[in-house]
Amino acid sequence: MHATVREALGTVAVVTGGSRGIGRAVVERLSRRGHVVVFTYSDDDEAARAVRRDVGSSVVPLRCDVTAPDAPTRILDAAQAHGEVTILVNNAGVTGPIGPLATVSDETIRRVLEVNLTATLRLCREAVTRWQVGDIRSDRSIVNISSVAARTGAPGEYIWYAASKAGVETLTVGLAKEIAPLGARVNAVSPGTTDTAIHARAGRPGRAADVGMRTPMGRAAAPDEIAAAVDWLTTADASYVTGSVISVSGGMP
Ligand SMILES: NC(=O)c1ccc[n+]([C@@H]2O[C@H](COP(=O)([O-])OP(=O)(O)OC[C@H]3O[C@@H](n4cnc5c(N)ncnc54)[C@H](OP(=O)(O)O)[C@@H]3O)[C@@H](O)[C@H]2O)c1
Repeated sequence: MHATVREALGTVAVVTGGSRGIGRAVVERLSRRGHVVVFTYSDDDEAARAVRRDVGSSVVPLRCDVTAPDAPTRILDAAQAHGEVTILVNNAGVTGPIGPLATVSDETIRRVLEVNLTATLRLCREAVTRWQVGDIRSDRSIVNISSVAARTGAPGEYIWYAASKAGVETLTVGLAKEIAPLGARVNAVSPGTTDTAIHARAGRPGRAADVGMRTPMGRAAAPDEIAAAVDWLTTADASYVTGSVISVSGGMP
């Protein structure tokens, strides 16, 4: 018999980068399951307002760059003001401009590693530090968003981004083992090419359709297909899943 696992209902979820794309789809799903969802973004106020308008007042936008020195405390304090934080989804991510390694600037390498990897480590540390105080709960869960790039290495496109995501997967495995005694779980979702604005921002607006066509399923993912896996990992149905990296990649290895 395993210990009774509480379903995290009516608690607070934090989603970084929730104003569009995969993050927004995660916000919508977690909100539908009854969570207050505090989500961050760094730039686009109108997109953030639209999420609240469309999803409802239990969704709380917070303009906060995840790389800011005080971001982990600001984000967790803002979330805790609404109740018990049981879910952290580290989703905010950037690629920098597409190109071979020889063309990338120091600034892009630094920025991509800071947003994708360092900020994820720092937010995980803040959540875990807070979870170490008080009761052990079985409904605490961290989901980090990786990428198939962690396995392919993304040659000719963004090796620095791929390396940042490999780091995300490694920290997921290590932290899962480290905090299992707290009753908390840590997993990653590794999406294949998904139809979001990230590709246009990388300088190739048609990339999702082009790459999607070459996958076994012949198309890119919709953001909600990735969010479904994230959502499941936060539920009691995934109570024995920790330290896993789940591919949602249309058959891409
Ligand atoms: N789309 C894909 O094909 C794909 C495939 C594999 C993995 N992924 C991963 O999935 C995650 C989401 O990607 P997406 O495609 O949904 O991207 P997206 O459409 O570009 O959305 C990114 C979100 O992150 C926010 N954000 C970016 N930098 C931030 C920062 N420094 N601080 C706080 N928020 C920040 C953006 O808002 P602001 O612009 O307002 O800051 C936006 O809400 C990323 O980790 C990405 O690497 C995506």
